[in-house]
Amino acid sequence: MPADCRGLAVTASSADEAELLDATVHAYLSNDPGTGELLGKLMLRAPEMPMAHCLRGFLLNLAGRASDLGRARESLAAADRLIARANERERRHIEALRAWCDGELTRATALFEEILIDHPRDVLAFRLAHYLHFFVGAIVEMRDSAARVLSSWEESVPDYGYVLGCRAFGLEETGDYAAAEAFGRRAVELNADDVWAGHAVCHVLEMQGRHREGIDWVNHHENAWAERNAFANHVWWHRSLYYLELEEHDAVLDQYDRYVWRGPSDDNLDITNAAALLLRLDMLGVDVGDRWHQIAGVVAETRLDERTRPFNDAHFIMPLAMTGRRTESDALLASMRGHAEAHLNEAMTIVPTLRDIGVPLAEAVRAYADGDYARAVDTIMPIRYRLLPLGGSWAQRDVFARLLIESARRSGRTRLARALLAERAALKPTSGPTWKMYASVLDQLGDAAGATAARERAGQLLAA
Ligand SMILES: [Fe+2]
Repeated sequence: MPADCRGLAVTASSADEAELLDATVHAYLSNDPGTGELLGKLMLRAPEMPMAHCLRGFLLNLAGRASDLGRARESLAAADRLIARANERERRHIEALRAWCDGELTRATALFEEILIDHPRDVLAFRLAHYLHFFVGAIVEMRDSAARVLSSWEESVPDYGYVLGCRAFGLEETGDYAAAEAFGRRAVELNADDVWAGHAVCHVLEMQGRHREGIDWVNHHENAWAERNAFANHVWWHRSLYYLELEEHDAVLDQYDRYVWRGPSDDNLDITNAAALLLRLDMLGVDVGDRWHQIAGVVAETRLDERTRPFNDAHFIMPLAMTGRRTESDALLASMRGHAEAHLNEAMTIVPTLRDIGVPLAEAVRAYADGDYARAVDTIMPIRYRLLPLGGSWAQRDVFARLLIESARRSGRTRLARALLAERAALKPTSGPTWKMYASVLDQLGDAAGATAARERAGQLLAA
């Protein structure tokens, strides 16, 4: 039986077919924009290969559009027809695809992890488990998954560096920044195109408030990562966040126009990047012109009835609410509530998160846009420590922490704003804008000495 380049048996008619599977998996790992084309070739060349259909189904599920999910089910049906030919590892992939198509992300992830116990070099199972852990905020699982498999890898095994990149991101999200940075930098040394590993380093620099270094890091790798797929746009988004913390708002807007949202995009990550950046700017009082309208148009046209990730939904509401599209905002909220209710008794992983976190966050965004800041505060406060299952990163979910603080300020709950800003300044001691905001709130509360100290701290940080 043919084997893949890491020695795992593959049901295929020839070694050439297994090689093409390797090339397609490698393209996926490296965020190669040619992945779809390679997959097309694989499907033509190896229509009887169970893993070809599984891979297609997985990639469609990852894209996460409702139309993609229907096509993923076609891949599942095709893989099912070949199940008698599949080996034991491949059958577990088919079961994972089935669980994923049914919305049972937890079960799909468990199946990938089971595969990895027996086949720690199944890099596809590993990367998919990594992403699914990330999608549901299972950050400890994400960290440990990489640690488990790495003991069975060595540098000579093809695609080793991409596993290091995932290890880096798991360590970063669980707060081990030094180790994360070391793994991430090593992965990028091994593969300059490893934008996922480079992105893990971006997160370290964001969380440690090393904003100038962050800009340099992205600039240095821009040429290599610009050749990657749309995920690179998310790295440009990170660069915008560094500028935001340096209060270089013109640079943020320039980044937005040239990198983050270059025109209407149907990609979930593009939409969430753009919406979250504009909301951050709005909360800081920066005029973003008519930029909301273009995203709002895409969301209104394509996302009102599409519920795949509560994280995305809590962002889709932003452009609708901020452009005053009340009918569409209402429709989105109704769709979110309806989806949660309709599937409550099923094993769909996202449903409790949608109901308990996604809907309240979307309501809070709507309240903020309507100027009902007190309601935004009241909606976020009870859930603020329970946002992890929403998925995404700490840096991404930070938009909701900012929303709470700004809503507290604008609703006149100044003591609450002070408390939240004290907390934030402790968490992000190198954030100039945080200290500045803290100073202004302390002023309002009559703490002139505290305000002066906070303002001095902000001044030093922003001048550095
Ligand atoms: Fe990120």
